[in-house]
Amino acid sequence: MKMTRNTGNKMPEAYLNGLIPTLNFTGFMVNFLDDYARGFIEFAGSGDVTVLDLGCAYGVAAIPALEAGARVVASDLDQRHLDILAGRVDEKPRKNLQCVQGKLPDMDFAADSFDAILCSRVLHFLEGDDIDTATGKMFRWLKPGGRITLVCDTPYGIWRNVAPVFEANRKKGERWPGAVKDLSPYLPEGARGKPAKGPAFMNLLDVVLLKRICSEAGFVVQRSGFIDRSDLSGVGRMDGRENAGVDAIKPK
Ligand SMILES: C[S@@+](CC[C@H](N)C(=O)[O-])C[C@H]1O[C@@H](n2cnc3c(N)ncnc32)[C@H](O)[C@@H]1O
Repeated sequence: MKMTRNTGNKMPEAYLNGLIPTLNFTGFMVNFLDDYARGFIEFAGSGDVTVLDLGCAYGVAAIPALEAGARVVASDLDQRHLDILAGRVDEKPRKNLQCVQGKLPDMDFAADSFDAILCSRVLHFLEGDDIDTATGKMFRWLKPGGRITLVCDTPYGIWRNVAPVFEANRKKGERWPGAVKDLSPYLPEGARGKPAKGPAFMNLLDVVLLKRICSEAGFVVQRSGFIDRSDLSGVGRMDGRENAGVDAIKPK
């Protein structure tokens, strides 16, 4: 049975301190921007640019990018997220907003469409080959000189129970060491034994993997690192590696 949440086109209530549940159980939109998303928004305010936010949820980055002055294409798997996002935008900036429902890696845009792309906390829901296909497409969608920003969940944050498996798989040389098909033994403390309401599959990533993904797609990495999400108090122990991020450029 497909589970849904009905919120009547309103953004759901925060679960904990800025964690807004998605309607399709693909985790939460984090309502506090990290440094990588902030860089994307700063770029959005840098001039006459068109930017794409993939897996935008209710617009935590897309709306500030719009307010910064960019033309924004906000895209998500779930049309309900896009409807809520559009309802949060005033009439005047809405003329610069296009909402596009689509699923990575199947969706497509024309080549050379965007000056920047943000894909924040989405890629870890995809199988490894699909991550490579999706980032290859992002490369094509960007104009030469365009920038990509990727942020993902790591095996050190809420999925920290996966860390030993990730490390062991990496030692064995596995290409996707954080790919976990049965998440039930690794659920965060407190969630075990309850009906599964999370994703069925996760492909947890880290800085090394994000850099490889970008390089193999043809990008030149500018900045990368772990992202400390200790701003999300109330979700358990944090060690400063909860997310990983990368900024990279498509060469001219
Ligand atoms: C964890 S939320 C991240 C939201 C926001 N980008 C952030 O960083 O907080 C994941 C979002 O990605 C969307 N999503 C999940 N899988 C997707 C896919 N294969 N293609 C496009 N969007 C996807 C979900 O619908 C959801 O809105």
